[in-house]
Amino acid sequence: MSEEALKVATCPMHEIIPMHPEVLKRPWPLNRRLRDDAPVFKDPMSGIFFVSRYDDVVKMAQDHETFSSKMVSGSRQLAATDDPEIRDIMASGYPQVDTMLTEDPPLQRRYRKFVDGAFSPRNLKALEPYIEKLSEDLIDKFIDRGECEFLSESGVPLPLRVIVNQLGAPEKDLPLFKKWTDAFIGNLSQQLDREGLKKAAMDMVEFQHYFVERIKERRENPQDDILSKVVNASIDGEKPLTEAECLSMISQIMVAGNETTSATLTEAMWLLIQNPDQYEIVRKDPSPEMISNLAEEALRYSSPSSNMFRRATKDLEWHGVKIPKDSILFARFASANQDERRFPNPEKFDVTRDNLREQVAFGKGVHHCLGAALSRRELNVGFRVIFERMENFRLADGAPEPEFSANALLHGLTGLQLAFDKIR
Ligand code: HEM
Repeated sequence: MSEEALKVATCPMHEIIPMHPEVLKRPWPLNRRLRDDAPVFKDPMSGIFFVSRYDDVVKMAQDHETFSSKMVSGSRQLAATDDPEIRDIMASGYPQVDTMLTEDPPLQRRYRKFVDGAFSPRNLKALEPYIEKLSEDLIDKFIDRGECEFLSESGVPLPLRVIVNQLGAPEKDLPLFKKWTDAFIGNLSQQLDREGLKKAAMDMVEFQHYFVERIKERRENPQDDILSKVVNASIDGEKPLTEAECLSMISQIMVAGNETTSATLTEAMWLLIQNPDQYEIVRKDPSPEMISNLAEEALRYSSPSSNMFRRATKDLEWHGVKIPKDSILFARFASANQDERRFPNPEKFDVTRDNLREQVAFGKGVHHCLGAALSRRELNVGFRVIFERMENFRLADGAPEPEFSANALLHGLTGLQLAFDKIR
């Protein structure tokens, strides 16, 4: 455990620096401390109130009237910057508007209605052969080497290709999607310096201009993809979405549909290496039920959407802490998923856990993840193919222990040098 993380477990609460990169990388000691000693805690540096216990996080997610998702400038670095050069770059694009993730009902429901059907489990069943073929093709590329960098060779490309396909873009544009996703996440990470912000602004504007062209094409010539559904949707005679609204919806689907599933796929492999007893359980019984258990427990354990913003719509007092109206709170989904009050022995990765389906990695309430069914399908198909083709997972010879990224909202490994034996 790093020095910063160790301090978190013992030092006075007011000395903790929750946004310190080392704490962001390894947040578990802080989360335990918060759940036990300060279930509602105001981070002295950012001013954000952290809510960390399972029951409280669920309550927050379900009470959208008290805890609004409507974006606030402080939660997006670019919106808050007063650097004239960066503002000029942003001005050459389209305004950032709030849609699903960053809107409240009833407007949020209106936006969701446009795309809910496209992400329904029934619709996604048809995608299964495509996901399976993709998983096989990715593994084909490295299976004979006996090792791979799992994140970039499998974890990232699987969900990325699915989403690029669903957004109706050609394969050759894959690298652009990765670059744009990184820009949006960087903007949310609160960790960018000026150069990083400038690059993020340029990449986000490039994304907007690229998709404005695709929006025009799909308006004139609709196809059977999600993009066409978004740009041509008009419910009950309402007027269609504006370009800025379409861009916001597309960016949310692109960003949320990428990094999160990649993180869970990759962390699952690392968890299986660290927990040989759990690996053996799945290896001996790779039935659909057990693979699904593996996916749910990996979701609980990895919780890639670790924190989500909310804004208090009125003055509150919670666990003895005063929260003034308009304060920003974090619903700490990753901490909720490690709450010993809900999951006994939470630090144990356990694919036989009784209540693993109570995990809240996909959130709760009106904002419950739009892509949950898609992500589950990718994880289940992806793990099934992996267990059919590879065994005896381990860290590649001489590879360092994998490291987590330092991001306030998204948690995941920066890479995983995986070695394995080939089955077929
Ligand atoms: C392991 C994978 C994933 C995880 C852990 C995850 C997590 C989450 C969470 C926690 C929320 C709720 C946010 C809140 O309450 O403020 C959410 C919402 C959302 N997710 Fe996911 N997600 C995943 C995959 C996906 C995929 C594959 C897509 C799209 C293809 C997607 C699209 C969205 C969208 C658009 C929302 C906003 C929904 C709304 O606010 O109405 N997610 N996700």
